[in-house]
Amino acid sequence: MATGIACGKIILIGEHAVVYHQPAIAIPFSAVQVRAHIKQTDDSIITLNSSIYSGDLAHAPALLDGLRTAFEKACFHLAIQPTNMAITIDSTIPFERGMGSSASVTAAAIRALAQFTQKPLDDKTLKAFVDISENIAHGSSSGIDASVITYETPLYYVKNQPLHPFHYSLDAYLVVADSGITGNTKDAVSRVKHLQETQSELHQQLIEQLGQLTKDTQQALLQQNAIAVGKIFSQAHHCLQQLTVSTPLLDTLVDTALQTGALGAKLTGGGLGGCMIALASSKQQAEQIANNLKQAGAVNTYIQHLL
Ligand code: MEV
Repeated sequence: MATGIACGKIILIGEHAVVYHQPAIAIPFSAVQVRAHIKQTDDSIITLNSSIYSGDLAHAPALLDGLRTAFEKACFHLAIQPTNMAITIDSTIPFERGMGSSASVTAAAIRALAQFTQKPLDDKTLKAFVDISENIAHGSSSGIDASVITYETPLYYVKNQPLHPFHYSLDAYLVVADSGITGNTKDAVSRVKHLQETQSELHQQLIEQLGQLTKDTQQALLQQNAIAVGKIFSQAHHCLQQLTVSTPLLDTLVDTALQTGALGAKLTGGGLGGCMIALASSKQQAEQIANNLKQAGAVNTYIQHLL
């Protein structure tokens, strides 16, 4: 049996604006991961076993189109017939919650495929396959999820530009809370596009503001200024609200975190459900925020030290 593993991702700042060529900062999130296993079978099809679908990959629901297309192309690249395989996906990344589940499933499955064929697959080629999957899953993807999940390094990311691994160390804690509501990145990206078509000035102003906030975050992280990073997070959430990708529950979770003393809080990822993040100055405060977020409706919380 061959196995491939991939982590999740958290966008610290710049989601949505990154689709419009503004910078964004994202980090690998190893508190959650996908494990894909592939074994040989006698069936002349590829079978998929996962929590959202089990059966012939060729007949998988549309939300798995990205995985299917990328996997079949990877089979062609690795010179193996797309038949006689069973793929099993074990994932602790909740689906469509802004933690990169779609990119991570594809990355893990194709890593497992490379091991199954005993052929090398470099990260650049893997990323190209994950990009194919993401462009189908998100409509028009910036490539940020594919990049951070393939290279497993924090990135200061600008679409279609060479990757900039971004090393920082901040003595603060990131609380990630899952609202339990399935987001839909494709819908969220098209909502922002709709705003561009209907209120182009407002759209441009918000996208540019988010780009500037990402640049400010980079500086604040390099200066190890957690207070400034927190303030910027809250400003970014306000922009994302105006881009119409927040929800009442995400807003409640952001308010709850701030009332509990968080340095700042915002939604993360595509929005319309999914996750939010809060910055805490100590582990104790992070735990308090996580507890209050659960009481306010979060179904799960994670704490990561940013040092
Ligand atoms: C999704 O994780 C991030 C978005 O900016 C979409 C993208 O960059 O492709 C919402």
